[in-house]
Amino acid sequence: MKERNNAFLVLASVVAALGGLLFGFDTAVISGTTPFIQPYFHLNDVGLGWTVSSLLIGCIVGVAISGKPGDRFGRRNTLRAAALAFFISAAGSALAERLAVFIAFRFFGGIAVGTASMLSPMYISEIAPGERRGALVSLNQLAIVIGILIAFFSNYLLAGTGADNWRWMLSVMGLPALFFFGSLLFVPESPRWLVQKHKTDEALSVLARINGMEKARSELAEIERSLAKEEIGTYREVFSREIRPLLTIGMLLAIFQQMTGINSIMYYAPIIFQKMGNGTSSALMQTVAVGAVNLTFTIVSLRLIDRWGRKPLLIIGAVGMVVSLAVIAGAFFMEHFEGYLILVFILIFIASFAVSIGPVAWVVIAEIFPNRLRSKAMSVAILTLWTFTFIVSLTFPVILDRLGGGAAFALFGVMCLLLLFYVIFRLPETKGKSLEELETILLRKE
Ligand code: BGC
Repeated sequence: MKERNNAFLVLASVVAALGGLLFGFDTAVISGTTPFIQPYFHLNDVGLGWTVSSLLIGCIVGVAISGKPGDRFGRRNTLRAAALAFFISAAGSALAERLAVFIAFRFFGGIAVGTASMLSPMYISEIAPGERRGALVSLNQLAIVIGILIAFFSNYLLAGTGADNWRWMLSVMGLPALFFFGSLLFVPESPRWLVQKHKTDEALSVLARINGMEKARSELAEIERSLAKEEIGTYREVFSREIRPLLTIGMLLAIFQQMTGINSIMYYAPIIFQKMGNGTSSALMQTVAVGAVNLTFTIVSLRLIDRWGRKPLLIIGAVGMVVSLAVIAGAFFMEHFEGYLILVFILIFIASFAVSIGPVAWVVIAEIFPNRLRSKAMSVAILTLWTFTFIVSLTFPVILDRLGGGAAFALFGVMCLLLLFYVIFRLPETKGKSLEELETILLRKE
């Protein structure tokens, strides 16, 4: 019996995590297409910058607008809409003949990414029992990393397919998008959302499938108690004095996650590798090395997050990132790139991110907020995350150009140091508790 429940829970979480896979793919696929879309659409550097960022702007919009349908129509149903949007964006951008059409479909895809980046972790956190929530929500990060890896690989394989290669690269996403849509037909709604909608019997049956009837009844009572006050909360409450400390945690983790420089380093790595000289610069090698390390250490994190807790992982990861960024910055200051040293430290950086703030930011953002405010409060935190993804991606090339790699990586290093202090001195531990227990503990303590 236990086995079956386990399978049901894991399956539902994996289905939701497919949203993460499409998120990862969609954000990464563009990097392989730029050498081809730039001449095709006659883009200068600024034009290319905006074409690439159109997805990120869509993400910001997606997060801003998906909270409402998530509350109104349900997490699962809104994810279904996102799955369709992923498909439409893949087909539309792959077939685009004009720049405006291309940008519009990428922007539309961004709305899907933004929606999935919020609702996939939300759905999983609302369906998972407290003692396994960290690992299950981390499946979403695992899927993001796998999505990035698929994009790199398929770009690599498709690069030689002629003038339409970029179209093939973008269309690859269509199939998993349809699969995501189809598999969402077989998972239940989030029990916490069902209670919000007074569909108590349905909620009870979902909870019973996960944990057995006895536990389900007590969980249901807890959820009902936490939702007893009123229906769904307002943005005003999200920014109220009571909730503000929690919002600060969510926003800071979002900012720190992006200010580690993960995306700059991941996408800039090939250039750094090139500086190291021949033999180490093959596209495949970079993909395999960065991707494999990212994947492996996300799995390590997933196995430890509910046992050790969120804080120890963050501390270990922050230390690893500070050290590796210091070495990378030092190499830039001294213009010393020979040997495998830099490669090793880039990989240490990726591993440190993957074991810590990569998954943990999403997990904590999905679990700290009270049931009635989760959707709105998460949207504020995740909006912050995408805004900083956007800011870093836009400013990194400028900082690199004006101040050099040393300053850029040193800045990221300082941010990781601040993260370390923040985690040690301010962040509460959230492992093992049910969402309702956390609600009581966090709101009382703060
Ligand atoms: C971050 C992305 C990043 C990815 C890399 C995610 O958690 O939000 O910005 O590209 O991890 O693994």
